[in-house]
Amino acid sequence: MRLSQTSATTNSETVTLRSPRISDGAAMHRLAEATGVLDANTLYAYVLWCHDFAATSVVAEVDGEFAGFVTGYRKPDDPSILMVWQVAVDERFRGRGIGARMLHGLLDAVADSGCRALHTTISPDNDASQRLFASVAQRRGLSLSRRPLFAAADLGGAHEPEDLYVLAP
Ligand SMILES: CC(C)(COP(=O)(O)OP(=O)(O)OC[C@H]1O[C@@H](n2cnc3c(N)ncnc32)[C@H](O)[C@@H]1OP(=O)(O)O)[C@@H](O)C(=O)NCCC(=O)NCCS
Repeated sequence: MRLSQTSATTNSETVTLRSPRISDGAAMHRLAEATGVLDANTLYAYVLWCHDFAATSVVAEVDGEFAGFVTGYRKPDDPSILMVWQVAVDERFRGRGIGARMLHGLLDAVADSGCRALHTTISPDNDASQRLFASVAQRRGLSLSRRPLFAAADLGGAHEPEDLYVLAP
């Protein structure tokens, strides 16, 4: 089931969450590149993601302007787990709770079909991302654990390692 579109207005600013459309792929690709910290994939990868994984992904808009996205999928070997691949918020809109709202919206949407745990990978130097997921875990009463997943050598040597974060009931 796709995330139902929701809008909330605070301080005369309207934040809308919705499932991605194919036409969002280009903005997702641009934002991934602009973060400077995400591994930006090809434009084709984002367009394909919008086509095939819209039900487990979300886009945020602020007053109609593209502001962020989360890409995720249900693990093929355990569909009760939502694997979050990338989260990005345009730097103009950071620190306003948009990253957390996207993750809560997505977790609420997939919970109906029995998906209650979240996995993601985060590099040790990404404090903002670690704080984001810790905040989501705390707010939802989920436990949070971390273990090494991909070593720097697995990722070509010039990349930070990636730890697996597990948020579970
Ligand atoms: C990580 C990112 C998505 C956070 O988005 P955001 O909308 O600014 O985050 P939110 O405003 O929802 O903040 C959620 C929580 O994280 C904390 N947080 C967010 N950015 C932070 C930062 N730079 N430093 C410390 N804490 C931070 C907030 O204080 C909040 O915690 P709280 O609920 O306990 O108060 C955003 O910084 C980003 O796009 N970074 C570049 C891409 C990236 O690193 N993505 C994650 C790896 S996949």
